[in-house]
Amino acid sequence: MKMILYSFHAYEQPYFEKFKSKEHQLLFSDQVLSDKTASLSKGFDTVSLFANDDASAPVLELLHRNGIRFITLRSAGYNHVDLNKAKQLGMRVARVPAYSPFSVAEHAVMLMLALNRKVIQSHSRVIQQNFSLNGLTGFDMNGKTVGIIGTGKIGSTIARILHGFGCRLLAFDPVQNEEIKQRYQVMYTDRETLYRSSDIITLHLPLNEETHYFIDRTDIAQMKAGVMLINTARGGLVNTNEVIEGIKSGQIGYFGMDVYENEHDLFFEDHSQDILQDDILARLMSFRNALITGHQGFLTDTALKNICETTMYNLDCFAKGITSENELS
Ligand code: NAI
Repeated sequence: MKMILYSFHAYEQPYFEKFKSKEHQLLFSDQVLSDKTASLSKGFDTVSLFANDDASAPVLELLHRNGIRFITLRSAGYNHVDLNKAKQLGMRVARVPAYSPFSVAEHAVMLMLALNRKVIQSHSRVIQQNFSLNGLTGFDMNGKTVGIIGTGKIGSTIARILHGFGCRLLAFDPVQNEEIKQRYQVMYTDRETLYRSSDIITLHLPLNEETHYFIDRTDIAQMKAGVMLINTARGGLVNTNEVIEGIKSGQIGYFGMDVYENEHDLFFEDHSQDILQDDILARLMSFRNALITGHQGFLTDTALKNICETTMYNLDCFAKGITSENELS
């Protein structure tokens, strides 16, 4: 099989390199898939995509015209793929459903701790030999209430970690996870109660039509004043402009984000020589109580190894004419 891997980054190279010259031919491309770059797929059997590649209906049409019948996603999320269109075109799509829930869960907890204990400010003071502690007071995580929205693989891993910190855990998810209820005393509740009671709220649900702007100003108004909001799931789950309003008013006391609704043209690339055109991101960057990382929750050695192995397994299944259990319907 010949597979072109779009949005391929140097950090993936060591994992995929060893598969390069085996039975499949792999082409690593740093191009992001769009209507302009779909032509690169000509002559390949499959394409492999990452989170910010555009697999909308018109782009899928172009891939289909080039003979692409199988797509391997190097991500768990698939909100960037028009699955209905893929189905209509007879294109199969497989993802990496669980490469390491710990990678993202631990990143979310890192954001919580770094915001709480003001690690960025502390480090910049120390390197200026300013050892004053004024303004750096944090809070004990122990005894705080954390609201987890979405208790699938990552949300339930967060519950496991935060149980160890001695947090009280509330959850909102239409599907209840019995194991975390029993093992970590997670209490499922409605959204309003979770908002009203939580000191920290962390999002771990998928982005789809139903969950777009899941958090807006009406939700924010119901939260505890000074709440910490963490989003390591997908940027479009929160209305960023309304989060900014919440930070300005003090209703949101801390905001940690690894994903951003307009990340598509920015994240994963070096724009350090460019003039930033995104005023929303610029405003977020100006807050000392907002901590931003560039969609790196997944970026651990374990996760990258699993992403590579599952992607190659999905490709093997396609080559052998069998259905991978990782295919989306
Ligand atoms: P999962 O599919 O295992 O769990 C998602 C959970 O959300 C399920 O329990 C589901 O019932 C729940 N859910 C769905 N709709 C909901 C709603 N309206 N309200 C409340 N709960 C709802 O997914 P997983 O693997 O735990 O991933 C969670 C999120 O993390 C996804 O958005 C994914 O895209 C994102 N992610 C982010 C990464 C990063 O690098 N920052 C890497 C991997 C995933």
